[in-house]
Amino acid sequence: MTDADTTNTTHATTAGADWRAWQESWDRQQEWYMPDREERFRIMLDMVEALVGTAPRVLDLACGTGTITARLLARFPDATSTGVDLDPALLAIAEGTFAGDDRVSFVTADLKDPDWPAKLPHDSYDAVLTATALHWLHAEPLADLYGRVAGLVRDGGVFMNADHMIDETTPRINAAERAQRHARMDAAKGGGALDWAEWWQLAAKDPVLAEPTARRFEIYGEHADGEMPSPAWHARVLREKGFGEARPVWCSPSDTLLLAVK
Ligand SMILES: C[S@@+](CC[C@H](N)C(=O)[O-])C[C@H]1O[C@@H](n2cnc3c(N)ncnc32)[C@H](O)[C@@H]1O
Repeated sequence: MTDADTTNTTHATTAGADWRAWQESWDRQQEWYMPDREERFRIMLDMVEALVGTAPRVLDLACGTGTITARLLARFPDATSTGVDLDPALLAIAEGTFAGDDRVSFVTADLKDPDWPAKLPHDSYDAVLTATALHWLHAEPLADLYGRVAGLVRDGGVFMNADHMIDETTPRINAAERAQRHARMDAAKGGGALDWAEWWQLAAKDPVLAEPTARRFEIYGEHADGEMPSPAWHARVLREKGFGEARPVWCSPSDTLLLAVK
């Protein structure tokens, strides 16, 4: 499917929303920002298999539409997953997608709320996995969140975060890669790619998603990003919060997949 096709995708069926179409257009929108998005998921699942095996109990942190959960279950059918997020529209897509699959459950919670772990169905996980989400948090709440995540990962279990992480010691490299990335995004836009704002405009017009989309804008507004600290910062804070080892296991010029073992 091309980006141009995505723009024309029908997201409704006679029975309601077409969750598969919404998943696909979400993926195309995210891939406009991260053309190598699937690469990080592949390595993330490689590291799940290497460290906790092929039937893990997973927490999909800030799960959105359940992107990680979908890839996890496609590769490891014996895995189970709890997705946690605050966005009612993305959670509606996630819940619609996995309806009837008893390996999957979803929890609505704000990861800035210190009590969010109490809402989970389990108090211990083999793997806590997250992507393209924790840069929404500023450094202090993110460090607090890492402390809570450490409490949820069993000994020998893993935490992985794939996200935009900026090494401030390399400003010329950062500026050059950013300019190239944005030039490529501009070129892809000509092919019909939807950006974040356009995707949400589409969701707001969907009969099923209009109401949760209105609610998500009440919750988040036009969200502002946090500081996006360096991979070294993430590794150091994760060790301070109780993980034994932490380091990047994949990186692109802009993003890193950080793995921590409890
Ligand atoms: C760009 S989406 C990524 C979703 C998914 N992980 C993926 O890779 O497609 C960022 C997600 O983080 C969630 N998020 C951000 N801040 C949050 C918070 N404080 N509590 C819960 N979820 C949050 C948003 O609701 C959104 O679903």
